Amino acid sequence: MIYNDAQAERIVKNRLSQKRYEHSVEVARTAERMAMAAGLDPGKAYVTGILHDYAKNLSDGQLLEVARQAGLITDSIEEESPCLLHASVGAYLLETGLGIRDVEILSAVRAHTLGSMRMNTLDKIIYLADMIEPTRQSYPGLERLRQLVEQDLDTAMLFGLESTIRHCLDRGRLLHPTTVEARNQFLRRMKGNWPEG
Ligand SMILES: [Fe+2]
Ligand SMILES: [Fe+2]
Repeated sequence: MIYNDAQAERIVKNRLSQKRYEHSVEVARTAERMAMAAGLDPGKAYVTGILHDYAKNLSDGQLLEVARQAGLITDSIEEESPCLLHASVGAYLLETGLGIRDVEILSAVRAHTLGSMRMNTLDKIIYLADMIEPTRQSYPGLERLRQLVEQDLDTAMLFGLESTIRHCLDRGRLLHPTTVEARNQFLRRMKGNWPEG
């Protein structure tokens, strides 16, 4: 089942704080615009943007509980920083709780925090829209990332993943191997030895 914009907005509005709801709307608008530019279904991008932080209101304990029970934990870092789980738990709850079966929506929600080894265009759009939406608090490289998004999504992804990794390094945080692997894949693509797909 795919929800229309108004249904998706109502579902999220009831779960998230006003600030997070507004962030979700801005991600949706940004993703819609990026999808149009990329020749993708803008409506699907909008709904995915609205839903991407579906599990963001859950406590660390709740995220861990759902993730453990559903077998979603891929690395011990997620036990130490349960917030990282809001993406995979969100996709899981959208599927099991709301009956959303659209694999593209679920995949983009799942990959929006850590990235993944194989990201399709909608995955990239949601990951990047989350990082550049207009109300996003400024961080080093934000304006550069906004420019790159207008030019090439793969270059923007490499820059976005490296910004995320640098942010973790600067704060002495653990790195999630999935993010490092995703960054390596985009670097390979930039160097021309990673086939499309
Ligand atoms: Fe998120
Ligand atoms: Fe977000």
